[in-house]
This record gives sequence, structure tokens and C-alpha cells, in this order.
Amino acid sequence: MTPSETITVGITGASGAIYAQAMIRALDRDSRVSRVYVVASDAGLRLISTELGIVAQEHKKLASLLTGTPAKKFECLPNKDIGASIASGSAAVDGMVIIPCSAGALGAIASGTSDDLLARAADVCLKERCKLVLCLRETPLNRIHLENMLRVHDAGAIVMPAMPAFYYAPQSIGEMVEQFVCRVLAQLGLPQEEQFRWSGGAKKQ
Ligand SMILES: Cc1cc2nc3c(=O)[nH]c(=O)nc-3n(C[C@H](O)[C@H](O)[C@H](O)COP(=O)(O)O)c2cc1C
Repeated sequence: MTPSETITVGITGASGAIYAQAMIRALDRDSRVSRVYVVASDAGLRLISTELGIVAQEHKKLASLLTGTPAKKFECLPNKDIGASIASGSAAVDGMVIIPCSAGALGAIASGTSDDLLARAADVCLKERCKLVLCLRETPLNRIHLENMLRVHDAGAIVMPAMPAFYYAPQSIGEMVEQFVCRVLAQLGLPQEEQFRWSGGAKKQ
């Protein structure tokens, strides 16, 4: 199969940098994906450092640091670069995921501010009717969060809160994260073979 999918991954300063790492690794492995743009906010980089102990001195190396290998199909873009390719609707992008997505990033997308590359790229996805998945991580939710979720939903985004499931009896945090990432990738049109599928009975006793 010729790899053809181009995906943008946004990483913001919500808890759950491990989800971003698992997403980057899954896209690296996926032979259907030819290009991945990565944009992390300053707070996203901070959470990657706090939660994963990974410090990206140069944003260009972020994907390689997250995969642990030379991540060749990745292009890591500075969040300040509002002139990057993905800031334009003419760029060939098949979908974007923000994982984890902060309440702040959700608010920026819901209000259409587009004042950094992450928010602009998401805004472009909505205007171009391209898939946009927001893995919001916040709890409890206030009225502003709830209204913003409805706003982006109505504008075409998929709101997919970072909520792992338990019905497949996960044995580790890693498994919970992997399974959640599989569900997100399925929403982006990239179903994964390792995704657990409920068939009416528990996997493990
Ligand atoms: C350790 C830490 C954990 C945080 N966790 C969350 C979170 O789970 N959800 C959230 O919406 N914001 C969280 N925040 C706050 C955001 O990082 C903050 O609102 C930031 O401005 C978001 O910026 P961004 O959307 O540009 O990444 C956290 C901050 C820190 C320092």
C-alpha cells in the first residue's frame, strides 16, 4: 500500500503527555501515514517535560525524542509559526488530532482566535471540513468548557475526552493509553488491528 495520509498532531498543556507519545509512536508505525506535522504549545512542552521527563531543547527533535528513534516522516513546527504550511487550507492534510487538548486550546478553537499555529491549524480543519479530533483533558467541567465543546462539535469537530475504558480489563496504564489512541486513530480513518473490539464478553477473567 502506498502511504498517503497526512496527519497533524497538536500537543497542549493538559495532563496526559503519555497519550501524545503513544499517538506519535502509532503514527510512526502506521504504513498508511506518509507525513505527520507536530505542533506543541509551550505548556504542552512543559507537560512533556513534567510527565515524561523529555525536554525538547529544539522543537524539531520533539517527535524523535517521543518515539526514541529518528522519526523521519515527522515535521515538528514551532507554535509561533503562523506561516507554516498547515496554517493554510491549501495544505494537504487529511486530519488533525489535539492530544491531550487543554481547556484553553478548546476555548481558542471554539472562539476562532487562530492566534497560534495550533489554533489556526484546527480552525483550518474546521473550515475545510477536514477531520478534527479534540482529546480534551479536564475535570470537573465548568459551563464554559461544556459550551465550548458543543460549539466545536457543531462546527464539525469530534470531541473525544481522554477517558480510558475498563471493559476490556486493561492490565497496565500503557494498555489503557494504547487502546484510547486506537479509538482516536479510528476516528481519523486509521483503524488499528490491535484495537480491542467488544464482542459481547470480557477478554480476560
Ligand atoms: C502540571 C500541569 C497540569 C495541567 N493540567 C491541565 C489539564 O489537565 N487540563 C487543562 O485544561 N489544563 C491543564 N493545565 C493548565 C494548562 O497548561 C494551561 O491552561 C495552559 O495555559 C494551556 O495552554 P495551551 O492550551 O497553549 O497548551 C495544567 C498545567 C500544569 C502546569
